[in-house]
Amino acid sequence: MSDKTAIITGANSGLGLAVAKRLFEEAGHAYQLTDLRVCLACRNLQKAKFAKQELHEIFGLDIQVDVLELDVSRPASVKQAVEEIKCRYKHIDWLYLNAGIMPVEGVNWSELWPPYPSRILQAFTDGGSLLKVVDSKTPEGLNSVFATNLFGHFLLVRWLEDFLCSQRCPAHIVWTSSSTAMKSHFNIEDVQDQEGIDPYGSSKFGMDLLSLALNNMLNDKGIYSHTVSPGLVITNMTTNILAKWLWYLMSPVVLLMRLINGSWTWDAHHGAEAQIWLSKQDPAILDHTAKYYSCCSPFGKSYVKQSREKLDPELADQLYKKLLKLAQQFETS
Ligand SMILES: NC(=O)c1ccc[n+]([C@@H]2O[C@H](COP(=O)([O-])OP(=O)(O)OC[C@H]3O[C@@H](n4cnc5c(N)ncnc54)[C@H](OP(=O)(O)O)[C@@H]3O)[C@@H](O)[C@H]2O)c1
Repeated sequence: MSDKTAIITGANSGLGLAVAKRLFEEAGHAYQLTDLRVCLACRNLQKAKFAKQELHEIFGLDIQVDVLELDVSRPASVKQAVEEIKCRYKHIDWLYLNAGIMPVEGVNWSELWPPYPSRILQAFTDGGSLLKVVDSKTPEGLNSVFATNLFGHFLLVRWLEDFLCSQRCPAHIVWTSSSTAMKSHFNIEDVQDQEGIDPYGSSKFGMDLLSLALNNMLNDKGIYSHTVSPGLVITNMTTNILAKWLWYLMSPVVLLMRLINGSWTWDAHHGAEAQIWLSKQDPAILDHTAKYYSCCSPFGKSYVKQSREKLDPELADQLYKKLLKLAQQFETS
C-alpha cells in the first residue's frame, strides 16, 4: 500500500482536520508516511495554511500536504478546483466530502417539553428538530445549506467522475452525513428545502440518497461511495450553537450518555473513526446501503457501528436526476 492520495473538503478545522491527522497516523503505522499525499480543500486559504502548518508540526516537514482553494457552495470555485486537481494528482484514492454548515439562530425549547427522558435523549441525539436553522442564498440563488452540504459536493463528484475512473481504481468517496439525516425532513419536490424547516437535516438525508445513487451508477467504473455519521463532536459547528464552556459543563454527562449511546464521540479524533475505518476497507465489498457511525465507549475506545439505512433507490435516482438537471446550468458557465 503506497502512493495514496486523499482529498478532504473543509479540512482546516474539526472533523476534516482530524481525518487528515488520522490518515497520517495510519500511514505512519501501515506504510511510509511519505507515501501519503493529503489535499486540504478549503474555502479560506489562510486557515488551510495554518492547518497545514499544524500537520507539519505533528508529523514533520517530510509529509506531503497540499492546500487547495475550494468554496463548495460556489459552482465556479468547484470547477476551478476540479481543473487544479486533475493537473496536480495522478489519482485519488479517498475523496472525503466533509465541508458543511449548519447556521443556527436559536433553540426550539418546545421540543424538550414535556421533559420525558426519552424526548430529551432523542432531541440531543437528533439535534435537527431542536435547532432553528436560518438559511440564506448564495450569489447563484441557491440555498446555502443545500449548496454547501450537498450540491457543491455533487458537482465535485460529477466533474471529477471521468478522472476518478480513468485513474487507478477503486476510488472511495466518503460523505460526512449525520444522524439528523431523516426522511421526514426531506422533500423530493423541494430538494433545497426552501419551504421546509430543516435544511440541514434535508441536506444530510440528500447525501445518504445521493451516495446510494452514485453506487448504483458508478460501481461498475470502480467508484464507490459511503456515508458516515461522526456522532456529536465539539467543533466550530457545535460551538456556534452553544458556547464552548457550556459544552464543557456537560462533559460529566458524556460518560453516562456513552453507556446508552456511543454516538457521543465528543472530540474530533473519535468522530473521525468511521472515516478512517472506511479508508482501510475494500470499498467493493462494503454494504452500500449502510451508514457507518463513529462511536466511543465509556472508556474512551473508538469503534464503528454499521447500520443499514432504509433508503428508496427510486427516490435516490430521482434526486440524482434533479441535481443533474440543476448542474446543467453551471456546466458551461
Ligand atoms: N460536529 C458534529 O457534531 C457533527 C455531527 C454530524 C455531522 N457533522 C458534519 O461534519 C462535517 C464537518 O463539520 P465540523 O463539525 O468539523 O465543523 P467545522 O469545524 O465547522 O468544519 C466545517 C468545515 O467546513 C468548511 N466549510 C464550510 N462551508 C464551506 C464552503 N462553502 N466551502 C468549503 N468549505 C466550507 C469550514 O470552513 P471555514 O473554517 O472556512 O468555515 C470548515 O473547514 C460537516 O459536514 C458537518 O455537517 C458534524
